[in-house]
Amino acid sequence: MSSKEKVFINGDLSDATSAKISPFDRGFLFADGVYELIPFFSNKPFLLDEHYLRLSRSLQKMEIKNPYTEEEWKSHISNLVETTDLKNFYLYIQVTRGTPELNGVSRKRDHVYPEDYKSTVFMFLSEITLLSQDDISSGQEAITLEDMRWYLCDIKSISLAYNAYARDLANKKGAFESILKRDNLITEGSSSNIFIIKNNKIITPKSNNLILHGITRGFVFKLAKKMNIEILEKDITYEDLMNSDEVFVTNSTQSVVPISVIDGKKINSGSAGPLSLELSKNFISEYQ
Ligand code: PDD
Repeated sequence: MSSKEKVFINGDLSDATSAKISPFDRGFLFADGVYELIPFFSNKPFLLDEHYLRLSRSLQKMEIKNPYTEEEWKSHISNLVETTDLKNFYLYIQVTRGTPELNGVSRKRDHVYPEDYKSTVFMFLSEITLLSQDDISSGQEAITLEDMRWYLCDIKSISLAYNAYARDLANKKGAFESILKRDNLITEGSSSNIFIIKNNKIITPKSNNLILHGITRGFVFKLAKKMNIEILEKDITYEDLMNSDEVFVTNSTQSVVPISVIDGKKINSGSAGPLSLELSKNFISEYQ
């Protein structure tokens, strides 16, 4: 961390090394909060309005007060972004239900919260390191794992213990991502959305409460249409996944990542598929 790195807390920019949030914050005690992650390429936000809309929806669904108007958010964001020399980075936004007080004293830890709490807003910037072209061309490895998360996965909740467990398990096994499945149906990756390609059609699980409605996922729909490739939302079983022609995952920090091996078995030829590679290339050229 650079010594001059700034973070945003509740309206103020502070040095990252000395910034303070109460340990009684409900984000810390209950994971009672939501987050958003917005990529910036060459210092320009990518799909900012879509990310902002998802943040507003996550807050609404959790009934957490949105402390700022859209204009205020954009002004706070540009003030923070002005402090960095980074070119490709992401903006992390976390909004929690704050540290409610009772008669001027912090409530410490109480499941119940009063009407008059003040949300905590925390934002920081972090560099994005994209996978190398070689890593994309060879395709990445994934494992599969039962999806044991709650049923509100469309909310970008900061309660990510299972996602982190799943991703860490993949990492310990030398894989790039964990693909989650509920009752034999594929949902999404631990921090990505999943797509398969079969007979030149792109298939991805439905956007319901079992997955995060990824902004990159949404953009892949637009790209596919531009490229004249059929794309549909449909249940994907474990067998469909393993027998697909190509598999790729998407998220804001890595864009489109081809998956070539799952649970130790090759998908098709065992390297990145041609359509996934084309999507990855076209995706990158959209923001460059
Ligand atoms: N996560 N599904 C999950 C569970 C995710 O955590 C993410 C992204 C996605 C893809 O969403 P998007 O295209 O909007 O980034 C899908 C981010 C990268 C993270 O938590 O670091």
